[in-house]
This record gives sequence, C-alpha cells and structure tokens, in this order.
Amino acid sequence: MYLLIPAAGIGRRMGSDRNKLLLKVRSQPLITWTLKAAEAATSITWIGIISQPDDWDDFREIVADLKLTKPVEFIQGGSTRQESVYNGLQALPAAAEQVLIHDGARCLATPDLLNACAEAIRHCPGLIAAIPVKDTIKVVDERGIIQSTPDRSQLWAAQTPQGFDVKLLKECHAKGVQEGWEVTDDAALFEKCGIEVRIVPGEETNLKVTTPQDLAIAEFILKSRE
Ligand code: CTP
Ligand code: MG
Repeated sequence: MYLLIPAAGIGRRMGSDRNKLLLKVRSQPLITWTLKAAEAATSITWIGIISQPDDWDDFREIVADLKLTKPVEFIQGGSTRQESVYNGLQALPAAAEQVLIHDGARCLATPDLLNACAEAIRHCPGLIAAIPVKDTIKVVDERGIIQSTPDRSQLWAAQTPQGFDVKLLKECHAKGVQEGWEVTDDAALFEKCGIEVRIVPGEETNLKVTTPQDLAIAEFILKSRE
C-alpha cells in the first residue's frame, strides 16, 4: 500500500518557530514516531513525505537515521493541507490504485491501525479512521449563542489514516480546485462528490499533535508504551 504523509505545515498553533514535526517527543523528532509506525506496518510498501523544501535536509537526516527498509520519496508541500495532498497524489507512482493518507502530526497511530485501513480500502472507495465523540457538541453562532445540539450518537471525530481509490480521489481534488472547495480532510472532497466514505474504528490515543499540551500528552502515551 502506498502511504502519503502530509508534513508540510508550519505548526502555527504549536507556537514554535519551526515545523512542529521536527520538535522532540521522547527525545526524537515527532515525525520519527510517525515514520516508525509506517515502517512497522507490514502493509505499507512505499512512503511519500510531503514537506516544505526548507525542511528537506532535516527530514532526510531523520529518514537516514531510521534506516527505513521501504522506499521514501520527498514531495513538495503546498500552502494548505489540501494543496499538499494534491501534490502528493501527482507524485504517486503510476501503479498506485489505492492510497493511505496519514498526517505526520498523528505520531501515535499504531501499525495495526495502518494495516487495518490498508486492508479495508481494498473493499470500498474511501474510508477514514474515526472514533465516537465523547463530548456533547454545540453549534454556536458568531455572538456566542448556541443554535443547536446535534445528536451525539451520530457524531464521530475524524482521524487519519484516510484511504482512497487513487483515481477517484484525483478526480475529487480536481473538482475541488475547479469549484474552489476548501476542506480540511480528503473525505470531505469525497462527500462533496457524493462518493461513500466508510468509518474504520480509530484509536483514542491517535491524537493530532496540535498544541504544546498535545506534545505533553504524546510524550506521556509514548512513555507508557515503553
Ligand atoms: N500540512 C501539510 N501542508 C500544509 C499544512 C498542513 O502537509 N500546508 C500537514 C501538517 O504538517 C500536519 C497535517 O497536515 O501533519 C495536519 O495539519 P495541522 O495539524 O493543522 O498542522 P499545521 O498546519 O502544521 O498546524 P497549524 O494548523 O497549527 O499551523
Ligand atoms: Mg493546519
């Protein structure tokens, strides 16, 4: 299975002066943990790291240190995650029929989850890992007044990996560019195109490291796995 790792963000919410994926967690760069999971997932046979050229030297060093056995390509990122994935899709080898997309920032996803998604995407056009939300979610207007309370039993928190048929995802991305759709994940493009996206049970520990607090939680979870 082909795996694209969006890693081209700037980590604004982390408040650091560099890409958050280069910050250390348990004394290793955050992206190292994501790559270790990809290396350990037996289903993954090719890894594309989508990143900004400014970070390539750092990423190359990390990949070399890890001595990955799988082929790794570096792909230039875009100014949004959507653009980054678009670039990643163009860089996939022609033989790629399905692809998994997994955020570099989700460094706690297990190899088992990657393998489960790789298996499941052989049987449907699109899927995402997700977990039921625990909080009651409110829809709030710009004045800070609650407008509604969606039925929690129907709400799921989206994670990555997300898996797709490559041809369909390329078509959805092209349509997105044409129509000016701005989305935060690839499943949303499938939804807008009316293509079914299935849920695969995600992992509660599979958080997206976004803020300094998340970094501390990731540190704690990785320590507990040692
Ligand atoms: N990403 C990307 N290209 C972008 C923006 C984001 O490849 N132009 C990647 C990030 O590197 C990350 C994933 O998409 O692995 C999820 O994005 P997010 O957690 O929002 O990371 P950042 O955009 O870096 O953080 P922030 O939004 O706080 O700036
Ligand atoms: Mg972002």
